[in-house]
Amino acid sequence: MTPRTAKKKTATKNVVAKKLSKKRPAATSKNDTKPKLYASLVVQLLSLLKGEHDFIANAANFSALLFSSLPNVNWAGFYFLQGEELVLGPFQGNPACVRIPMGQGVCGVAAQRCETIIVPNVHEFPGHIACDVASNAEIVVPLFDGERLLGVLDLDSPTIGRFDDQDAEGLNELVTVFVAHEERLGP
Ligand code: SME
Repeated sequence: MTPRTAKKKTATKNVVAKKLSKKRPAATSKNDTKPKLYASLVVQLLSLLKGEHDFIANAANFSALLFSSLPNVNWAGFYFLQGEELVLGPFQGNPACVRIPMGQGVCGVAAQRCETIIVPNVHEFPGHIACDVASNAEIVVPLFDGERLLGVLDLDSPTIGRFDDQDAEGLNELVTVFVAHEERLGP
């Protein structure tokens, strides 16, 4: 192998390496962005909750953390179960409807089914309750104290298709951390 050939081969190798190194971070960051963001939110939520046992104060800070950290979100907050209806709790965003009967709207359906609901386009969800005309997508995550339903966490976005399974996973982890903290400290 002449030095010239060796040089050529190395140069080709470098071009390939450059192409790969350009490609890899882009692909990784695209897939990792949401899980990384939610992992960081778990750390921030734990720090906000540390030593504080007031449920309303903690729920208020939790909603503020979500609203200020998640992109393309125009409403983030809670509805808590009181009897057969959900009643508005701490939130960030425009004023919202106060009472939602079980089984009505996205929140009431998520609460009744005890499952997370992702709505890519709220205008296609039968019975959707429109609180903010800017909202086009929604995700609702139920909160449980053991088997007992406490209420729901609700997030709205102006962007159609904004929420996906990674959001569902991240938000479920956050509400689990939140409820576990409240259970640990008690009333
Ligand atoms: N859209 C919800 C109502 C609550 S607001 O979005 C804040 C629903 O259909 O249950």
